[in-house]
Amino acid sequence: MKILLIGATGEIGKIIHPELGKNHEIISAGRNSGDFKIDLSDTNSIENLFKEIKDIDACICVAGDCYTGDLLSLDEEKLNIGIKNKLLGQVNLVLTGQKYLNNNGSFTLTSGKMADKPVKNNIGKAIVNGAIHSFVLAASLELQRGIRINAVSPGKVSDIPVNDLIHAYTKSLQESVNGEIIKVNY
Ligand SMILES: NC(=O)c1ccc[n+]([C@@H]2O[C@H](COP(=O)([O-])OP(=O)(O)OC[C@H]3O[C@@H](n4cnc5c(N)ncnc54)[C@H](OP(=O)(O)O)[C@@H]3O)[C@@H](O)[C@H]2O)c1
Repeated sequence: MKILLIGATGEIGKIIHPELGKNHEIISAGRNSGDFKIDLSDTNSIENLFKEIKDIDACICVAGDCYTGDLLSLDEEKLNIGIKNKLLGQVNLVLTGQKYLNNNGSFTLTSGKMADKPVKNNIGKAIVNGAIHSFVLAASLELQRGIRINAVSPGKVSDIPVNDLIHAYTKSLQESVNGEIIKVNY
């Protein structure tokens, strides 16, 4: 498969990139790193990337920042960091990418445990991750040409056995699952 991997140089990307690269062609992308440049917070940048890279079977996103801080410190501007980068970034990736992905392709988004099991100071992540789950459930009903979508929702990555994380992404990529929130280390 030809896979577009956004965020390949991050903590999760560094784990899954070499593993997926054993069996697939990986095109990496990030704001400042990777084979191609993309900024998820900029819709034009997403469209340009899909126009430039042809023939993609799967798109995996392991990128997107969120604000960390307590309820009293949270305001609209801080909330918008995660909404713009991580939530709308991944949503726009799908809205745009659905026009370009090959038949029977797949999207794998990344959310996080804070959606379901928040701890203090993570309201920004809880909101964004929960919304990504809702988007995946709803979009999976409507994507066309056999295209699937799932989210991997990890706990703290440094606490997760590497193979469990890899299994979650390969499950979304290679199995016939659609509209699934794949929870890792809850
Ligand atoms: N690490 C964890 O414990 C954990 C747990 C649960 C969920 N998550 C979620 O998983 C995702 C990845 O986490 P991570 O820890 O691997 O992140 P990370 O170490 O901060 O790396 C982020 C990666 O994404 C790229 N990136 C960041 N913002 C981008 C943007 N706006 N457009 C395009 N590329 C962008 C970065 O490359 P450039 O700097 O070149 O842009 C980098 O390769 C995040 O959404 C995070 O919330 C992480």
